[in-house]
Amino acid sequence: MSTTTIDPNVVRIFDTTLRDGEQSPGATMTSAEKLEIARQLSKLGVDIIEAGFPAASPDDLEAVQRIAREVGTADGPVICGLARAVEKDILACWEGVKDAAKPRIHTFLGTSDIHLKYQTGLTREEGLERVRMAVTLARSLCEDVEFSPMDAGRTDMEYLIQVCSLAIECGATTLNIPDTVGYVTPQEWQDTIAHLIAETPGGGPGSGVIWSVHCHNDLGLATANTLAGVMGGARQVEVTINGIGERAGNTSLEEVAMALATRPQFYNLRTNVNTREIVKSSRMVSNYTGMSVQPNKAIVGANAFAHEAGIHQDGVLKNASTYEIMTPESVGLSQSQLVLGKHSGRHALKVRLEEMGYKLEGDALNQVFARFKDLADAKKTVTDADLEALITDEFEGPEEIFSLVDIQVTCGTMGMPTATVRMTNANGETFIHAAVGTGPVDASYRAIDAIVKAPNVLVEYSVYSVTEGIDALGEVTVRISTVDDTRTFGGYGADDDIVVASVKAYLAAVNRMVAVTGIGGHKPEGAVSTVNLISERQ
Ligand code: KIV
Ligand code: ZN
Repeated sequence: MSTTTIDPNVVRIFDTTLRDGEQSPGATMTSAEKLEIARQLSKLGVDIIEAGFPAASPDDLEAVQRIAREVGTADGPVICGLARAVEKDILACWEGVKDAAKPRIHTFLGTSDIHLKYQTGLTREEGLERVRMAVTLARSLCEDVEFSPMDAGRTDMEYLIQVCSLAIECGATTLNIPDTVGYVTPQEWQDTIAHLIAETPGGGPGSGVIWSVHCHNDLGLATANTLAGVMGGARQVEVTINGIGERAGNTSLEEVAMALATRPQFYNLRTNVNTREIVKSSRMVSNYTGMSVQPNKAIVGANAFAHEAGIHQDGVLKNASTYEIMTPESVGLSQSQLVLGKHSGRHALKVRLEEMGYKLEGDALNQVFARFKDLADAKKTVTDADLEALITDEFEGPEEIFSLVDIQVTCGTMGMPTATVRMTNANGETFIHAAVGTGPVDASYRAIDAIVKAPNVLVEYSVYSVTEGIDALGEVTVRISTVDDTRTFGGYGADDDIVVASVKAYLAAVNRMVAVTGIGGHKPEGAVSTVNLISERQ
């Protein structure tokens, strides 16, 4: 059993954005993007990063290894991998995490009668044997072992206690209790966790075991259930940025962290989260997964700190506490007094970006300054939201296998919408293609498809304006899927021209698909191609 002292007032944040979050339809990320997110999660102050499911594929294993080596430093977070309760998964998981300074193996088995009967075909007795084998093997490799009885929310309580106590006996240091299908209610869950802690042999207070909760959001109760679990004694919560995850998602990290931070007298608990990194983390995850955040989403939605009704505006102007229970600054939204516009210089931009947490120098600063000047010419005032979008667009895309050089569209009521795109590939070859479509965006996407040759289905397309007004910067997110519908990829683009933003978003998704699946044709070696074809809609 672990002899680590456990501070009973600290709730550990176990982030599973890169594992359960990536299981959201469409959230596939490249390994470079996962590494970037892991770095940001470390800045955010999460205690444990579940970096992936190493047995799932060689790519998943490689991504976990990179995170373990580059983010799992001695003063960094614990790096954890997930493994089914089977030998091959546990060995692959250890390969993934072993280079981290603080590695963890997380193994799980479905323990409800429904899961035993229909998923693994095991009897309860055989289930116990599986738990014994898996936890013992994991513990022989790694000192830090987490066990999850999957579908605990629908598992018979007596059996659940038996399973948990066996896992502890075999060396599990964290017992994670998942409500896998989002079925439980808050009071029930608080009682369940309190009962498990009190009744599981070897798991009581002073045992050194950490109890954890992992709640899904099928009934919209994930955050409430997680906080109820904490009230019941859990001191680890499994969460994801923006609440992404299987089906309706997981508990959202920002909601739990801000609930604990905003109501200290009620909970009397703290986390190690640097809440000022929340908005940046949210935007990064949204951009890399192509899963946009609903405007009314708590903490990170575009409207979370917006006041529309006159009476509310009046109150906030007199004193923000009338309608704000937390400050925008506390989650990383700044309220700078520095107004940036077309007369602002490089220095003012640099200072503003630094205040926002971006330290840019040299070429990187020049690139953003050039984009800023273009935008300031078109728009009177450039806001922090505009700058965030520019930075994201400029630096947070996937590896550019195909890059946009130019785009020209003609559209309107008098002709067929036509787009001509000029792109280069990673070998420096140039391609030009023109296509006709139902509108300028459709035409542009057809022209890109003709060059990249990576067949896909556009499953989602959304345009937002970053700020108000006709001159606002447009943000576009798209999701595409492979034609067999097995993988989905997201993309993000921002520009003051929404067709250009749309093309950037699509190209980001297509590049991600090409990088992950290898689908996509390149021109024959050595061909400097200037193709000038018009493809027409069938
Ligand atoms: O939802 C779930 O039960 C899981 C487990 C693997 C912890 O994701
Ligand atoms: Zn889950």
